[in-house]
Amino acid sequence: MNLFYKTSFVYDMSKSKILVTGGLGYIGSQTVLSLLDSGFEVVILDKNQPKEYQNFAYIVDFERVDLLNIGDLERVFKKYKIEVVIHFAAFIEVGESQLKPEKYYKNNVVGTLNLLTIMHRYKVNKIVFSSTAAVYGFSGVELIDENQPRNPISVYGRTKSISEDIINDFCKIHGFSAFSLRYFNACGADPQTRTGEDHNPETHLIPCILNAIANNVTFKIFGNNYNTPDGTCIRDYIHTTDLASAHILATKYLMDLTTSGFYEVVNLGTGQGFSVSQIVQSVEQVTGCKVLVEFVDRRPGDSDRLVASNQKAKKILNWEPQSNLYQIIKTAWEWYQKIKLK
Ligand code: UFG
Repeated sequence: MNLFYKTSFVYDMSKSKILVTGGLGYIGSQTVLSLLDSGFEVVILDKNQPKEYQNFAYIVDFERVDLLNIGDLERVFKKYKIEVVIHFAAFIEVGESQLKPEKYYKNNVVGTLNLLTIMHRYKVNKIVFSSTAAVYGFSGVELIDENQPRNPISVYGRTKSISEDIINDFCKIHGFSAFSLRYFNACGADPQTRTGEDHNPETHLIPCILNAIANNVTFKIFGNNYNTPDGTCIRDYIHTTDLASAHILATKYLMDLTTSGFYEVVNLGTGQGFSVSQIVQSVEQVTGCKVLVEFVDRRPGDSDRLVASNQKAKKILNWEPQSNLYQIIKTAWEWYQKIKLK
């Protein structure tokens, strides 16, 4: 896919680099691959070592740095000419954030502040921030647009909401330009199985269903009495390759900007919702395997329905999701078989 089809500009990308924090993570690594496929020069910053299958990490500049270590962070900005930062690095487990708020505020909020501080010091003032639909909390509306009030119900969601505010202030006061991209339910894997979902512990819906199939155990659906047609929660499942393409479009948008102080919040979702039971049925269709289902109690903090309005992303970024649910599950299953059933 040519991500540059909407522009007539040709960048001399050898001169500057895109710094991707959390570039070894689930969405970060897919974005790194898409950036490389599109010809960008990338520096990955991550506090973890590449996993054995992450071959791409050995062909790009890789800096093993924790955002809490400001000295190491500064060394990276001294070493490279960075034009735009794409900031993924964060802890993402909602449940854990409720038990260890200090861990989440420190890593996600202080880490972001450190990054912005060093960016400002080195006059790097363009950032694409990885935010989340969790900033909306319980929203009663059918399609959530960016004007819906933020009301995060978890510490995790609050760390992202606070980070958005800090970035917005850096735009207003220090002339930064930024996008906060609020993802709905990220899923799927790289179609070439170069990277994919590999959390430990795994709590997300699709890999949990695949786990149940692979281990021949019952899959537990959390609640069947929600205010939805089949009683199970509805979410907006968006392929990581589509998230990656949105990051590239946002990066290019910032590169093209000639003014400073730009800040926009953009939802990234398909605009279509599927219930948990519908996802189970789709997984059965794609894998050809039966899923043994058990309904259990609701999981605290789950809302009935979270589906994006993606009109703003279409308008501002010219972004259109390319993958459907079949492709999401197919790539997730191929990835699962590659790394878990080898
Ligand atoms: N679910 C089950 N059983 C499981 C796992 C999940 O029934 O074993 C259900 C959940 O209860 C929920 C749905 O599947 O109704 C999706 O759950 P996920 O854990 O996959 O995702 P969430 O919607 O809870 O959250 C994800 C991200 C958040 C982000 C949110 C945005 O983890 O960071 O999407 O919509 F904020």
